[in-house]
Amino acid sequence: MSPLALGSLTVPTPVVLAPMAGITNAAYRRLCAEQGAGLYVCEMITSRGLVERDSTTLKMLVFDELETTRSVQLYGTDPAYVGKATEILCAEYGVHHVDLNFGCPVPKVTRKGGGGALPWKRGLLAEILRSAVAAAAPYDVPVTMKTRKGLDDDHLTYLDAGRIAQEAGCAAIALHGRTVAQSYSGQADWEAIARLVEHVDIPVLGNGDIWEAADALRMVEQTGAAGVVVGRGCLGRPWLFRDLAAAFAPDGLAGRAGSRPTLPTLGEVAAMMRRHAELLAEHMGEERGCKEFRKHVSWYLKGFRAGGELRHSLALVDSLAALDPDEPFPVAELGTPRGRQGSPRERVVIPEGWLADTDGTRLHLTEDTTETTGG
Ligand SMILES: Cc1cc2nc3c(=O)[nH]c(=O)nc-3n(C[C@H](O)[C@H](O)[C@H](O)COP(=O)(O)O)c2cc1C
Repeated sequence: MSPLALGSLTVPTPVVLAPMAGITNAAYRRLCAEQGAGLYVCEMITSRGLVERDSTTLKMLVFDELETTRSVQLYGTDPAYVGKATEILCAEYGVHHVDLNFGCPVPKVTRKGGGGALPWKRGLLAEILRSAVAAAAPYDVPVTMKTRKGLDDDHLTYLDAGRIAQEAGCAAIALHGRTVAQSYSGQADWEAIARLVEHVDIPVLGNGDIWEAADALRMVEQTGAAGVVVGRGCLGRPWLFRDLAAAFAPDGLAGRAGSRPTLPTLGEVAAMMRRHAELLAEHMGEERGCKEFRKHVSWYLKGFRAGGELRHSLALVDSLAALDPDEPFPVAELGTPRGRQGSPRERVVIPEGWLADTDGTRLHLTEDTTETTGG
């Protein structure tokens, strides 16, 4: 497997940590990066929030001292804000990669024409992408976009989005093989990823339902994707990046059926949990860090016998000592989904009349300053 080339940026292992709002902050990115090699994308921030120097937005825009490649995902619906925000990221934050979010399925976002709803307006999509690419060009920073298949099966947008991204000068396009209507339910459609690979000349990054390193290899084999984007599979399992690095290593286990996943004992899991909490506390202060850590507890302990009561009290990090350090990894968990799954939406919430035309260049969509739902 070749390194992933994003414009002038080379990612030796073609693996990307998916931007996940509320998850992929500096602490979590560091934890994952310590396990493997790849590109670790910051949680999504809004263009308007950055341009207007909103304090919540700026707090999310922190990098670990060891983070040598700074990668940030922007959300936006207005070419002017997205361009300006891209410039700020390059000029003031020294980022090396900017990704744009066109996949968020959350009704609050699609209702205003943002996230996964936006690619329906091909003209507006092109304007936003061109604006970001132009702003990043003087800094030689690659811009990528991340999207879904479309609104629903009757309103697919990903092939047009791929062509538009390529024409706008994007360095790659990442495709989550689900529609907005599917949200996180069902199975990601890897065939759509393969079709997009056929359709464009820029690198395509495949995303959806990679639970093990073997899944990543299978996705690349089946789709021809230039790399993979991994989201929920690494929740409570930063070790997955170690397995991915081994699987994609040039002389590594790639293609060999025998690649074995890392199986930490409960003691090792507890040590990782403690480190995660400590890193969060370091970056956010103890109180907020511990609060943030709570959402990770059940992911780390998934499948282990540690009972519900203990999991609950683990919100208080000190209870980690109560875990049996020798309990082996629950192998039945391997290959199974983790994180949100949910059910499909009956109807995608979009602005009135949204489907009437596919251009949207004269639209002025209201930019949200504090949107933090992301995915
Ligand atoms: C908690 C959570 C937050 C997410 N936030 C974002 C986000 O901010 N931006 C984005 O493009 N995708 C976001 N996503 C979607 C993921 O990046 C990814 O596309 C999706 O989870 C499918 O990949 P997976 O099957 O590997 O999880 C989020 C997903 C989750 C579970």
